[in-house]
Amino acid sequence: MNPLATPALLDALHWRYATKLFDPARRIPADQWTALEQSLVLTPSSYGLQPWKFIVVTDPALKAKLRPVSWNQSQIEDCSHLVVFLAKEDITEGDLDRFIARTAEVRGVPPESLAGYRGYMLGDLVKGPRHAVIAEWAARQVYIALGQFMACAALLGIDTCPMEGLEPAKYDEILGLKGSGYRTLAACPAGYRSPEDKYARLPKVRYEMDDVIEQR
Ligand SMILES: Cc1cc2nc3c(=O)[nH]c(=O)nc-3n(C[C@H](O)[C@H](O)[C@H](O)COP(=O)(O)O)c2cc1C
Repeated sequence: MNPLATPALLDALHWRYATKLFDPARRIPADQWTALEQSLVLTPSSYGLQPWKFIVVTDPALKAKLRPVSWNQSQIEDCSHLVVFLAKEDITEGDLDRFIARTAEVRGVPPESLAGYRGYMLGDLVKGPRHAVIAEWAARQVYIALGQFMACAALLGIDTCPMEGLEPAKYDEILGLKGSGYRTLAACPAGYRSPEDKYARLPKVRYEMDDVIEQR
């Protein structure tokens, strides 16, 4: 690992902002986009269960359909790549089996050796009290992916705008998610800011460090 210099990290975090106007003429190069897709895949999640899917929209016709159900925000159409963040609606024993099989495959161990781990997940997420809030639990994992995606994009000099300003049920309909077991939570257009976007020049509004970080 070749660690980033601290000033480079802080520069990127200050440089990024929720982009309101994208330059519709600029496209993210394929190698950088692939790296950002990797940042989604590599996101950590509780138990490692990855209760998500990400739909990448570049088709102008589909973007045009999504814009009116996204509070008509122009970023949907003007960005280079639009990511729709989906969360699993439920976690079942089948999901645990899939994950155990994948772990066994990747790590080269027998699935039976993971029975204890499966038991923890079963007792917590499938049969335990947390099952009552499982959709919320899944949503929390998905937001980790959104945060990681935005930070990684900034490090590559790519702009993003996290978006909850959309109608999730309409997204589900347009994207054909009925019966898939996944639902829309948020979207994130990515691309390059327009020089006209005055929001890029506004100072960041954040509470003081001492107000939000407590040292003990
Ligand atoms: C989950 C989430 C949803 C948001 N939804 C929208 C949105 O729909 N449209 C928009 O322009 N900005 C949206 N924002 C951007 C926030 O307003 C912005 O991140 C915040 O004001 C901090 O400013 P900065 O990101 O420019 O530093 C959203 C941010 C988050 C984290």
